[in-house]
Amino acid sequence: MFKLVRGFKDILPADTALWQHVEGIVRELLEDFGFSELRIPILEQTELFARSIGASTDIVEKEMYTFTDRGGASLTLRPEATASVVRSYIEHQLYAKDPVRKLYTIGPMFRRERPQKGRYRQFYQINAEVFGLHDPRVDAELILLLMTFIDRLELSGIMLHINSLGCPECRPRFKDALKSFLAGRSEQFCSDCLRRRHENPLRIFDCKVPACKEATMEAPSILDDLCEACRAHFENVKRSLDGFEIPYQINHRLVRGLDYYTRTTFEVLADALGAQDAVAGGGRYDGLVKALGGPDQPGVGFAIGVDRLMELLAGRAQSFQKRPHLYIAALGPNTQERAFEWVQDLRKNKVRTEMDFQDRSLKSQMRRANKLGAGYALIVGERELDEGAAVLRNMTTKEEEGIPLDDLVGLVVKKIKPSTAGSR
Ligand code: HAM
Repeated sequence: MFKLVRGFKDILPADTALWQHVEGIVRELLEDFGFSELRIPILEQTELFARSIGASTDIVEKEMYTFTDRGGASLTLRPEATASVVRSYIEHQLYAKDPVRKLYTIGPMFRRERPQKGRYRQFYQINAEVFGLHDPRVDAELILLLMTFIDRLELSGIMLHINSLGCPECRPRFKDALKSFLAGRSEQFCSDCLRRRHENPLRIFDCKVPACKEATMEAPSILDDLCEACRAHFENVKRSLDGFEIPYQINHRLVRGLDYYTRTTFEVLADALGAQDAVAGGGRYDGLVKALGGPDQPGVGFAIGVDRLMELLAGRAQSFQKRPHLYIAALGPNTQERAFEWVQDLRKNKVRTEMDFQDRSLKSQMRRANKLGAGYALIVGERELDEGAAVLRNMTTKEEEGIPLDDLVGLVVKKIKPSTAGSR
């Protein structure tokens, strides 16, 4: 028997209604905030990710699904979406008419990490990216969008962490300070941290090895080394968040696992998730568009991890499952023929209707109506056909009434559609 590839999963019908509900909420919100959807491919040239995410990140060093295609090109299943969105912004000159663009994209990403709860090798992200604006209020507005979404889902135990990673002017200074800090403590860090310390010493804050985490406790803070412009930018982001009454924690260790960030970075953490507690992350990447060959336009964005969000919402999946409005329990070949026509006419009127195709007894058809969670059952046998009226039963209250067959569809639509009984 074939099995799923390790780290991959199916999203089963019992859960998809909740996924659709969540995606519906976020699409509406993104569009209210002025975003348009961009659909991008799952495969890109490997070099795009190496150049944007950074050659010395865990993602690029260890986690990408990369292969050589039959034409000899090195291709990679996208580990994240920002690089592709930037590629698309540049390739289609989306900046030409107006460099300010707000784009969102929803879809699967691939990282070959060690699978565990909340960590998959194929996972889903909702991405929002804003191009062309330096203003710190844009960063705050994106965070507001993210937190409004979380509020709409009525999630609790959520905390926002923010930091600033400075810019090409002030970050080198901080990197030097970190290098000196590391130089005196090389025995306390893992081989990955030591290997990366020249090129990218900020990675030590991101290392998951407990000893490295411990060893960084006394490390210098980038917030002490920001240049005047970056400091002012960060102050403004905080002021706007205060204005929105969004609580946050300043976390100078928040360097994120991707190298393109400048200035603001943020993550949303959820208590209930355990070790993999980041539900969303993002920040500013003012140099990325230019670094990938585009115009000198700034960017800022975030990605929500949908799988983790779903774990937080797990208990609610059942209430979003779509159940039939009506189950027609028809007995005998003539009635089943009539029932088959009614089913199609009712569906044309948006009444979700099911019937039996296995010639089962009334009792077992009613059992099935119950199992499917139908709001109503329409019972019709040869006798009802002769008498010209079927019986409509409300499956919750058990009340029954006669429905004349000559206008059955019209009457059932009127009866069932306005009511929400069993309409989920
Ligand atoms: P990221 O922090 O790597 O950022 O991923 C964002 C979110 O994706 C994480 O907070 C987490 O919820 C989810 N996620 C990441 N890896 C996994 C995994 N293996 N299994 C399940 N969920 C996962 C980015 O990807 C950036 N592109 C975000 C961004 C957009 N920055 C600016 N714009």
